[in-house]
Amino acid sequence: AKDPVRVLVTGAAGQIGYALVPMIARGVMLGPDQPVVLHLLDIPPAAEALNGVKMELIDAAFPLLKGVVATTDVIEACTGVNIAVMVGGFPRKEGMERKDVMSKNVSIYKSQASALEQHAAAGCKVLVVANPANTNALILKEFAPSIPEKNITCLTRLDHNRALGQISERLNVQVSDVKNVIIWGNHSSTQYPDVSHATVKAPHGENHVRELVADDEWLRGEFITTVQQRGAAIIKARKLSSALSAASSACDHIRDWVLGTPEGTWVSMGVYSDGSYNVPAGLIYSFPVTCRDGEWSIVQGLSIDEFSRNKLDATAQELSEEKALAYSCLS
Ligand code: NAI
Repeated sequence: AKDPVRVLVTGAAGQIGYALVPMIARGVMLGPDQPVVLHLLDIPPAAEALNGVKMELIDAAFPLLKGVVATTDVIEACTGVNIAVMVGGFPRKEGMERKDVMSKNVSIYKSQASALEQHAAAGCKVLVVANPANTNALILKEFAPSIPEKNITCLTRLDHNRALGQISERLNVQVSDVKNVIIWGNHSSTQYPDVSHATVKAPHGENHVRELVADDEWLRGEFITTVQQRGAAIIKARKLSSALSAASSACDHIRDWVLGTPEGTWVSMGVYSDGSYNVPAGLIYSFPVTCRDGEWSIVQGLSIDEFSRNKLDATAQELSEEKALAYSCLS
C-alpha cells in the first residue's frame, strides 16, 4: 500500500473548503489508490465550525482518509505537508479599499509562507486559491525563498474549465471533447480566455474551435466577457461565490500537476513567469502548461496575433500594478 500524502487545506471551514475536503478524501485529487491525511487550518473564530467539518469527515468513513488534523495553529497545520491548498484569506467587504484587502492578505501570505518553508515536507507543492490569487502566490514565493519557485502556483483552472464549458455549450459538444483553451494572466476580470489554439475532437482527428464557431465577433466579445464575469454571475445567482466548481478545479490542477497532463493536451496554471511570450519575469501569470513527472512547463511557440498580444499585455500590466500595491503594503 502507498504511504499517505499529507494535504493541507487552509480556510477549511469556509465554503470552498467544505466542497473540497470530501473530494480529496474520495481520491478525486490524487487518485483512487492514494491514501491521504488531511490537515485543515482555519482561524480561531471558525474553530468550532472547523471541528464540525472534521466530525463529518469521520462520519463519512472515507476508506482513503487515514487521518485528520484540524487546527488553528499554522505550524501544526503545515508540518510535514506534501501538498498545500491555500484557500484561506481575507475577503473584500463592502466599503473596503483594494489596498486594505491587499494589506490583510499580504500579511496572511507572508506568515503562512514562513510556516510552510520551515515545516512542510521537502518538495511540497503549493496551490493558492484565495484572492487575489496570483499576488498572494507571489507574496508566498517571496517569503519562502527556500521553496523552489516551480512549486508555487495559483488557480486559474476554474477559468480554464469555464472556457471549456462555454465552448461545449455553444457548439453542443461534450466538454470532454474540447481542449487546449488558454487562460492568460490574472485570475481577475482582465484575464484573457483564448481559443486561438483550441480544438474539438472529431471522429477522425480534431477540428479548430475558431472554424467550428465561425463567429469571431462572439469569440472576441461575448465569449471572453462571459468567462471573465462568470464569478460575478455565480455570486448574483447563488448569493455566494463559486465553491463546488472552484473545489473541483483545484483538484484538477493538483491532479494534472502530480500525475501529468494527457499527451497533446495542455491546461492553464498560474506560475512564476520566466519571460515566456514576453510576459514580464517575476509575476505569477497564467500560462498554458503541460505537466510530467510532477513538473509543469510552459507550452512554447504558440502564435500570438495582435488582438491576443494586447490582451496578454493588459493583464500583465494589472499584475504589475498589483505587485507594486502588495509591496507598498509591506513597507
Ligand atoms: P469563505 O469566506 O467561505 O472561506 C474562507 C475561509 O478562510 C474562512 O473559513 C475564514 O475563516 C478562513 N480564513 C481567513 N483567514 C485565514 C487565515 N489567516 N488562515 C486560515 N484561514 C483563514 O470563502 P470561500 O468562498 O471558501 O473562498 C475562499 C477564497 O477563494 C476567497 O479568497 C475567494 O475569493 C477565492 N476564490 C478563488 C477562486 C479561483 O478560481 N482562484 C474561485 C473562487 C473563490
